[in-house]
Amino acid sequence: MAQSFTIAIDGPAAAGKGTISKAVARHFGFAHLDTGLLYRAVGARLLSGEDAVEAALALRAEEIDENRLRTAEVAEAASKVAVIKEVRAALVDFQRAFARRAGGAVLDGRDIGTVICPDAEAKLFVTASAECRAERRYLELAERGFDVDRGSVLADVRARDARDSERAVAPLRPAEDAVVIDTTEMSIEEAIAQAVRAVEARHA
Ligand code: DC
Repeated sequence: MAQSFTIAIDGPAAAGKGTISKAVARHFGFAHLDTGLLYRAVGARLLSGEDAVEAALALRAEEIDENRLRTAEVAEAASKVAVIKEVRAALVDFQRAFARRAGGAVLDGRDIGTVICPDAEAKLFVTASAECRAERRYLELAERGFDVDRGSVLADVRARDARDSERAVAPLRPAEDAVVIDTTEMSIEEAIAQAVRAVEARHA
């Protein structure tokens, strides 16, 4: 496909957004950008002593390295830099260019359907109850060998939700024309199938 087709997937942490986005991108043969990694890369630079806005302006694609950026410390720094208006503004062009690449793109994040790509051809909002997301995150961390307890994982999930949805700039909320997929009672396979069907309805 030569023309662009943008799929915007937003939602809170640990709702299954990342897994669904990757599967949807694979299904349609589209490129995928996890935009949380941009904020994480800026967060990592902040931790090494740089100014967040300068870091965002200087960000290079090569820095978007999943492994290095998947730590709790970087996630915490990312959620702090994500409230800075100038940081968000500095990351807009990169995301929009990615969205408009030929062959189609899936972008997942918090404000893709509302701010970055308000004209996306398909918009999904993937969510689940805080308890369910905390349980999934707990199991994932326990499996990776981290010594964590359920109560503190739930507290973290709630704190991040509050920061992401109560911030003044680009708060987390579904776009008016987004299809909401609540994965609380769904298997991941079911959630992926629903997401693919929702996109296909716009892709015809
Ligand atoms: O999805 P994640 O955990 O990788 O996101 C890291 C932080 O970045 C999180 O606090 C939310 C923020 N973020 C954002 O504000 N806007 C986006 N489009 C993506 C992530």
